[in-house]
Order: sequence, then C-alpha cells, then structure tokens
Amino acid sequence: MTDSLTLDDYARLLGGRQALQDLLGVGPSALSNYVKRGTIPVKKRALLDKAVSQNSHKQPPLSQNHISEAPICLLIITGGIAAYKALDLARRMQDAGYQVRGVMTKSAEEFITPLSLSALTGEAVYTELFSLTDEQEMGHIRLAREADLVLVAPATGNFIAKLALGLADDLASTLCLASTAPLYLVPAMNPVMWAHEATQANCATLRARGAVQIGPVSGDTACGEIGSGRMSDVVDIVAAVKAHHHGSEQASLNRKALAGLSVLLTAGPTEEPIDGVRFISNRSSGKQGYAIAEACQKLGAEVTLISGPTALPCPKGVARIDVQTARQMHEATLAQLPTDIAICTAAVADWHVRGAGHKKVKKEANAAPPQLDLVENPDILKAICAAAHRPPLVIGFAAETDNPLDAARAKRRRKGCDWLLVNHITEAAPVFGADDNQLTLMTDHDEISWPRSSKQQLADRLASEIAAYFETESLPS
Ligand code: CTP
Repeated sequence: MTDSLTLDDYARLLGGRQALQDLLGVGPSALSNYVKRGTIPVKKRALLDKAVSQNSHKQPPLSQNHISEAPICLLIITGGIAAYKALDLARRMQDAGYQVRGVMTKSAEEFITPLSLSALTGEAVYTELFSLTDEQEMGHIRLAREADLVLVAPATGNFIAKLALGLADDLASTLCLASTAPLYLVPAMNPVMWAHEATQANCATLRARGAVQIGPVSGDTACGEIGSGRMSDVVDIVAAVKAHHHGSEQASLNRKALAGLSVLLTAGPTEEPIDGVRFISNRSSGKQGYAIAEACQKLGAEVTLISGPTALPCPKGVARIDVQTARQMHEATLAQLPTDIAICTAAVADWHVRGAGHKKVKKEANAAPPQLDLVENPDILKAICAAAHRPPLVIGFAAETDNPLDAARAKRRRKGCDWLLVNHITEAAPVFGADDNQLTLMTDHDEISWPRSSKQQLADRLASEIAAYFETESLPS
C-alpha cells in the first residue's frame, strides 16, 4: 500500500527529517544518500511502512518538516555593521540552491530585524536559546543536526572568540557547538581588531578544527579605517561556500557510497560432523569473504557476516553470526532477509552425514570401515535468489578448475544470481588460503577479468562496483 511513498511522504507522515533519522538509526549523510539516489533500502522501507501504519491514526505533521533536496544552510548572523549584507547573502544562497534557515544573535538585531530575514527566507528566524515556542516547533538540537552547513556571516571578533573557546551561552554559539556540519566563517570587523593576535589565534584554532574561513578583504571599513577586516563580497561568499561544500559533499558521498544499504554475506567453510570428533570440511580460509565484509563496511554499509569456522577476527563494525554446518548457515542467512545485497562467498559443504551423532565412532576389530551416508545440503545462494524477499542484488562466487567460464555461466543461470565472481583454480595458482586472487566478474551484460591482486584490493573493487550499481540502478520498492 505504501509502495509509492517517497522520502518526502514519509517525512511528512512521520514528523520530519530528524524523526526519519531516529527511526532508521542513520545519520544525515545516509538520508541524503537516499534522497540523491531516489531510493530507499528495502529494510529501511519496511521500518518506515511499519511506523506509518502505527501512526496512521495521528494527525500528519506540518508540511514545513518535509525533506527538501536542497541542502540546509544555517545562516548565523552576528552583530556587526555588515549584518545588513547578510540579507542579500540569504537571498543569493537560496538562488544558489540552498534552503536558508536564519539565526540571529541579540547584537545582530541591533542592525537588522528577524522579520526582514524571515520574509526573505520564508521560514521562522531563530534568536532565543530558551524560547518555548521555538523549542516546540524546532528544538535547538534538531536545528543544529538538520543543517548541512553552518555559515556565520558576518562573524564578529567576539563570536569567533566564543567559538574558539567552545562557549555556548546563546542560541547561535550553542548551534555551532551542537552541529557536526561544515562550518564557514566570514569574519568582518575593524582592521585593528582583525589584526589582533587574539583574533588571529582564534581563527587559526578554528581553521585547524576544520572551519573554512572566507575573507576578510581589504578596503574601507564602516568605522572609516582602511585595512583588512571588511566582509567579503556576497557573491564571493556564495561562490566559496558552493565550491567547498560541493567538493566535501562529493568526497563524503564517495567515502560512504553504501551508507544506508544492508549487506548479507556468507563466508568461510562449513563443517559437517561425521561423529562427535570428526567432520568433513574444505580448505576455505574465509579471507576473501571477510575482506569483502570489511570493504562494504568501510563504505558505510550495514554488514551481517554469517561465518563458518575460521581463524579470522571479525572486521570492525561488522555483525558476525557464527555457524558450523551448512544447514545452520542456510537457516541463519535466510533469517536475515530482506537485505539490499547478498554476497555468498562461503565454501559450503555439498553434503552432510546422515545420522551423525555426538559420540565418537570406534573402530571395531576386523570390521569394515563405516560407510558414510551422505545427504545433499541446501543451496543457500539458490535459496536467497528464490526467496520472497530476494535482495535486489545477489552475488555468488564460483571456484572452477575445468572450462571455468563455461562452467560459471551455467552456474549463474542455475543459481539465479545477478553477478557471479569466478575463481580459476590451477595448480600454480591455488585460491584457498592464499592472500591474492584472480577473479572474473560475470553479469547479465559483461564478463570482466580483474587483474590478479590481493583479496583486499579485489574486495575494495567489488564494493565500488556495488556502489556504482546502486548509484545508477533503481531499487524495486
Ligand atoms: N553455495 C551455497 N550453498 C551451497 C553451495 C554453494 O550458497 N550449498 C554458493 C557458494 O557460496 C558460491 C556458489 O554457491 O557463491 C557456488 O559455489 P560452488 O561450490 O562453486 O558451487 P556448487 O553449487 O557447490 O557446485 P559444484 O560444487 O558442483 O561446482
């Protein structure tokens, strides 16, 4: 019923952007990723749908809570004569594609009124830290968290000093302390104040913490003195913010290209008991699967690793579920669906021993060796592909010795996975236990041979291919 709901709709129904983040347990960057991709990961959509159906009796919140594709610029205006230029800045930031939310200090109100700023931005302008009305409409923490960037223009010497010290004695300074968004400072003050060692040291401190300083420039200042301290031209401020913010957004998007997506991964061998002390297994070390889990996690994915027995430590940030047999792996894996991506790297034993017990089987004098009655194990990859909640991208692996590409093409069809990564095993280049590998990626359209490299490099490459796939493909709802 909610198949056609967009993030905008969910935000309207569930109480805004922060409410969605809280509900999904993701940060603003993951939410921005969904907006940019125009897709919602299946697990997250299920959570949203559940919340919508639970909330359906409630009044929809105000439309001002909606998710706009426009990044939110928290424009903080402090009290200097250049404050009047901030009105033009607000307008031009909007023209540049930003949603501007105005915040003014008490001294800024000596120069311009919140009403004029509000008329320009079409939004409430926030001035008080302890305003019941403001806190009810938009708590100050939410105001800080929702910001994609914080722009302080003009930034007085006093305000810069407060930020350098980490003071939070009014709304504007509290927001700067409570926000993790990029901070842009546009100093404007008397040239002597600007040149003062204290101001220079404060700005250096803030730059060292990552703040971007724009200006000041030289010229006439309001107090009649000539020198450096004049606020940069509004057009230059907008250009500087846009160039820097776009660059850092791209970088963080690339760093977290899988943010908000869930990856289910099988890895390692399985062990099939013969009796209480013996088992059938294989030579898989789990290295390739663990490397992929780590690579996907580094790109921001939520990774669940269903692992057979290995000696490897669990990669940081990855949730690992340990299993021993193929049947346990099968059950644990299917229980994790739905996810956005499934990757089966496990070397699952093809058979288990019927009736294997916990007791050790003893040799009987003059008796024939016991016969193992082997039963085929469930095919986990095939089961994922056939599942009602089939992940939008299912990836299998194949290790082949004879006619590897022909065998792999047939295997991809048989299993029904989207991508298959083929290992070509030769005597000279064993795969099991080695630190490097050579893979061919087979998809519906391509067969690309990746050069022999370390398992970690191959894992990074696969994670980037997955990210590129989700950049261009639309997830089915
Ligand atoms: N696989 C699985 N469950 C199984 C067997 C295999 O999930 N019971 C998955 C593996 O994790 C891998 C792919 O299927 O992603 C291919 O595994 P492979 O051992 O090459 O294929 P098999 O189906 O076992 O076929 P064969 O051994 O006959 O080549």
